[in-house]
Amino acid sequence: MRDSERCVLAIDQGTTSTRAIVFTRDGQILAVGQKEHDQILPRAGWVEHDPVQIWDNTREVIGTALGKADRTAGDIAAIGITNQRETTVVWERSTGRPVHNAIVWQDTRTAPLVARLGSDGDGGADRFKDVCGLPLATYFSGPKLRWILDHVEGARERAEAGELLFGTMDSWLVWNLTGGPDGGVHVTDVTNASRTMLMDLRTLTWSEEVARDLGVPLAMLPQIRSSSEVYGHSTRLGAPIAGILGDQQAATFGQACFEPGMSKNTYGTGNFMLLNTGTDIVRSDHGLVTTVCYQLGEQDPVYALEGSIAVTGSLVQWLRDNIGLITDASQIEDLARRVDDNGGCYVVPAFSGLFAPYWKDDARGAIVGLTRYVNRNHIARAALEATAYQTREVMEAMNADSGVEVTELRVDGGMVVNETLMQFQADILGIDVVRPQIVETTALGAAYAAGIAVGFWDGEQAVVDSWTEGRRWTPQLDEVERERLFRQWKKAVRRTFDWVD
Ligand code: G3P
Repeated sequence: MRDSERCVLAIDQGTTSTRAIVFTRDGQILAVGQKEHDQILPRAGWVEHDPVQIWDNTREVIGTALGKADRTAGDIAAIGITNQRETTVVWERSTGRPVHNAIVWQDTRTAPLVARLGSDGDGGADRFKDVCGLPLATYFSGPKLRWILDHVEGARERAEAGELLFGTMDSWLVWNLTGGPDGGVHVTDVTNASRTMLMDLRTLTWSEEVARDLGVPLAMLPQIRSSSEVYGHSTRLGAPIAGILGDQQAATFGQACFEPGMSKNTYGTGNFMLLNTGTDIVRSDHGLVTTVCYQLGEQDPVYALEGSIAVTGSLVQWLRDNIGLITDASQIEDLARRVDDNGGCYVVPAFSGLFAPYWKDDARGAIVGLTRYVNRNHIARAALEATAYQTREVMEAMNADSGVEVTELRVDGGMVVNETLMQFQADILGIDVVRPQIVETTALGAAYAAGIAVGFWDGEQAVVDSWTEGRRWTPQLDEVERERLFRQWKKAVRRTFDWVD
């Protein structure tokens, strides 16, 4: 085999689809396989995925990508996994059968449980924050896992007996890739573990205290490993699985944010801004979460502050699928461009309550500021603007928590092709917004974490060397107007509070 044919395979298991991407040694994309999976919405506020469908799709897209790339299993130097975080799967160790659909990160069914846990102990919603860096919220895996144990007959007893396994999507895929019931390895990495509420941020081990208070048996939890090391080998491809990173941490890695103070913002179904805080665990006083950014093998872990926004791109999907305002996501920009402003209209997409910086499970979405003047173009524009305003809210929190002003923002993700949004983003933040040439930073980050572990690449410097600026947007809006718009947005947000009885 020629060395020039060696490649790294990244699997990006996202909220709406699963992708396999083949990268060359110079960090270029050779081929992509992609398949969407069903969004199962049994009730208002509930969101599920079928883990078996996701595993089937994973195998299929790997085949598609390798076929398109004209590469065979023997060409793969390493496999990196990146994934939607927090989404919770519980399955049988002996058969690999899930006992329930995966409960997705957007799902709010655990709101009553979360409220009860908050009132049971000292600290309210921040009861476990000192240990795990997270507020009690429906977003994280721990309460979802508890819900499954409480609602699936016999699940708790079987979990205590070691018959059931828990995992986020990374664990589910790695276990299946490495043999499933026949010797599959049950692992997760520090970044995914840091989203469960169950991991102690300081020790990077499961917290017995939090697990006890949440009612989760330790026997079902995966082993926590670093983000870059060999965990096992794919039974079908023979290649080492050597990198695991939650998708937002993978994007931070792929954007080469290796120095404390560097940040990125990813525009996907939701938006997630991460600020590298180095080896310091910075606690947030402004509604951000503290999370692990990455850990390379035996090295010290690097931490981050994160502003998580539940709904940005998925608002555009909702306008397409539930409202019929558009038939294709790209049309949102065509409509938004037909007007100069939002006509006074604001869309607050609190579909899963509000995440950062508010953490309000009982908020629900609203369209406000309507007059007879407002038309569909204004609503399209207001929907795009919602992403930019929410980003400004988390950036303000970040500046306040870190004491350092972010001076330019690296962006990536599906929505960054939208010129209107990116210009408005720069306008409303008042700083430059910068897109790299390769916007597939999530898959790139996972590929690099895996490739570095097996020596295919030479440490983080390889990522730094491959990062090239692709496009830059500079603020054009005057400051008075910027602040007026943002004030109105904040007023609109307050209208969504305390909606659920
Ligand atoms: O925390 C949720 C996040 O990981 C989901 O990311 O890109 O699948 O929307 P994405």
